[in-house]
Amino acid sequence: MRGILLAGGSGTRLRPVTRVASKQLLPVYNKPMIYYPLSVLMCAEIREILIITTPGFLEAYRSLLGDGSWLGLDLRYAEQPSPDGLADALRIGSDFVGDEQIALILGDNIFYSHQLPTMLQHERVLLDGCTLFGYPVADPERYGIAVTDADGTLVSLEEKPEKPTSNLAVTGLYFYDNDALALTRELTPSARGELEITDLNNKYLAAGRARLVNLGRGSAWFDTGTHDSLLDAATFVQLIEKRQGIRIACIEEVAYRLGFIDADQLFELGRRTGGSTEYGRYVMDVACASA
Ligand code: G1P
Repeated sequence: MRGILLAGGSGTRLRPVTRVASKQLLPVYNKPMIYYPLSVLMCAEIREILIITTPGFLEAYRSLLGDGSWLGLDLRYAEQPSPDGLADALRIGSDFVGDEQIALILGDNIFYSHQLPTMLQHERVLLDGCTLFGYPVADPERYGIAVTDADGTLVSLEEKPEKPTSNLAVTGLYFYDNDALALTRELTPSARGELEITDLNNKYLAAGRARLVNLGRGSAWFDTGTHDSLLDAATFVQLIEKRQGIRIACIEEVAYRLGFIDADQLFELGRRTGGSTEYGRYVMDVACASA
């Protein structure tokens, strides 16, 4: 399975902050936003990842994350010249994906659950068609929503309905088999001129090949598309990290715990971040505790 991380878009709702800054590089509490979705792909044990961003910011992502080898990853980069929709990421990434399965994640989505690695690795094995991840929210009209029957089976999908008939948002993490590449080529732009991910998911649903996993109450999901939701996410991360003395989406630690790098490499990454910084000290402490 190969990962595609979409860090494009113009971040219109976050202006003026995003006038000269890429949204997915903004801080969510103490680390760049992109660390969070990147750590989710890593938790699914995906090591080959394509980062798609707008031409003006590509070098900034490359200088932050490089070729990924320091995390035991293989990171590549591609440009999305104009915001042509989420499904467009599959068109851009088709050569990179080849004949593999795909995990697409949106660069502004933050997931938190202690079961994430187990659950994602399990869903990779079960994947047959498309797997979506739902999360109950109080404001479903802001999202793609899923309607399920009493057994939790997926019945319908709708993009940002004015009058939602369900409170189950479809989060920005999508697992697809390789058919997604061909199905994306059949899509036509929506009224707002974009290739809609919900249209792709509906093609799978119509073929009886879409499944929804409800992340449920025991987990947290945020998108960070507005100033308030960005602040909510940062506050959540701050609260958990301070209370438990852990770090959420510390990609160096994730790489170590998944066996992508060893304790010596982890220590060195902490040292390079800086022993005088909280982040660097944390990384070095994890390396020492495990040595
Ligand atoms: C996109 C998708 C939507 C999904 C959401 C998750 O919306 O179109 O279906 O629920 O991401 O973050 P956007 O945030 O691009 O408006």
